Amino acid sequence: METNQNERKKVIFSAIQPSGTITLGNYLGALKNWIDLQDDYDCIFALADLHAITVRQVPANFRHNTLEAYALLLACGIDPKKSPFFIQSQVPTHAQLAWVLNCYTQFGELQRMTQFKDKSAKHADNVNAGLFTYPSLMAADILLYQADLVPVGSDQKQHMELTRNIAERFNGIYGSVFKVPDAYIPKKGARIMSLQDPSRKMSKSDENVNGYVAVLDKPEVIMKKFKRAITDNDACVRYAEGKDGINNLMGIYSCVTGKSFEQIEKDFDGKGYGDFKTAVGEAVAEHLRPIQERYNEYIKNKDYLEKCYTQGAETAYRISVRTLTKAMKKVGFVPRAHNKSRLTNIINCQIFTHKKAETLKCVSTFLLCIL
Ligand code: TYM
Repeated sequence: METNQNERKKVIFSAIQPSGTITLGNYLGALKNWIDLQDDYDCIFALADLHAITVRQVPANFRHNTLEAYALLLACGIDPKKSPFFIQSQVPTHAQLAWVLNCYTQFGELQRMTQFKDKSAKHADNVNAGLFTYPSLMAADILLYQADLVPVGSDQKQHMELTRNIAERFNGIYGSVFKVPDAYIPKKGARIMSLQDPSRKMSKSDENVNGYVAVLDKPEVIMKKFKRAITDNDACVRYAEGKDGINNLMGIYSCVTGKSFEQIEKDFDGKGYGDFKTAVGEAVAEHLRPIQERYNEYIKNKDYLEKCYTQGAETAYRISVRTLTKAMKKVGFVPRAHNKSRLTNIINCQIFTHKKAETLKCVSTFLLCIL
């Protein structure tokens, strides 16, 4: 893509919850596109751990899953030098803007969210306020970075529409504060379905482990899951209405091989479902193999992970605090007074630890906040 040197690249923001297994659905619907878009856009990515506590988490598992997800996303191809990649709870601006946006989001709007209806039915004993106001936090995540595009699977479409409505409402009252973002939903892979019930989306919270493929599943497990995938009695590999199981497998195969549906139909003309399922399993296992290898390296290197997420959080804070400060000023909050001694403290502390680059970043953030 040729870009004029002075032309601003479009900004992409997206996030994933680090609760439990990351599935092939997450990968094909979202993560693969994050990676593919990194060169042509200014990308920033997050692990949405604040979102994850809307469902009760076991603390030790939660910490482990968050680090595992961080390592896995690096292994999928996020390059933290190109795309700041951070853990949401380490950047306080998200919770701060979320509160403000909560006050510009209507009860009725939140009540209409299908994800809220689904999750509150599933966790009937814990229908907490966070589960209800989850979309305003998601809106804050996106709007803080003035994102133009948000690559997500189709299940996030409704949350994206609400984000746009909140941004337009706020801008309508206070002038142009937020960029109104568009969802980036891929043509292929936007909704990968369960292998056991192709009328439902593939989900990490599926109680039947054969319903989903985890990105970290071993090749033999992947093969077994595809061989058990529910199909139909037609025994002909073609994309057609009413063949949800086969359509889903064709979608997955097409995403990982790059082949069109016509090509797949030609390649499997006269062959049975057994052959096709084996081919899909092999292609998926082969596609995930290098990711799994890289993951095994990253997860051992805790220092590197810590360096990446700390750096990511610093950059994310520096960018997001500008939008937060602007939004709060517009609402009419009294800006916090910054005194000289605080600035001197920051400089002394950073110089003491020989972090010159950080000192400059801190001073510029500080000055931006005052101005
Ligand atoms: P989450 O963690 O449920 O899913 C992460 C991404 O994976 C996509 N996805 C799928 N795509 C295709 N087929 C599937 N079966 C499938 N399952 C999941 C999701 O659409 C998503 O893109 N609310 C978000 C996390 C979030 C976020 C944000 C996303 C928090 N803040 C800001 C974008 C921007 C969520 O729960 O995704």
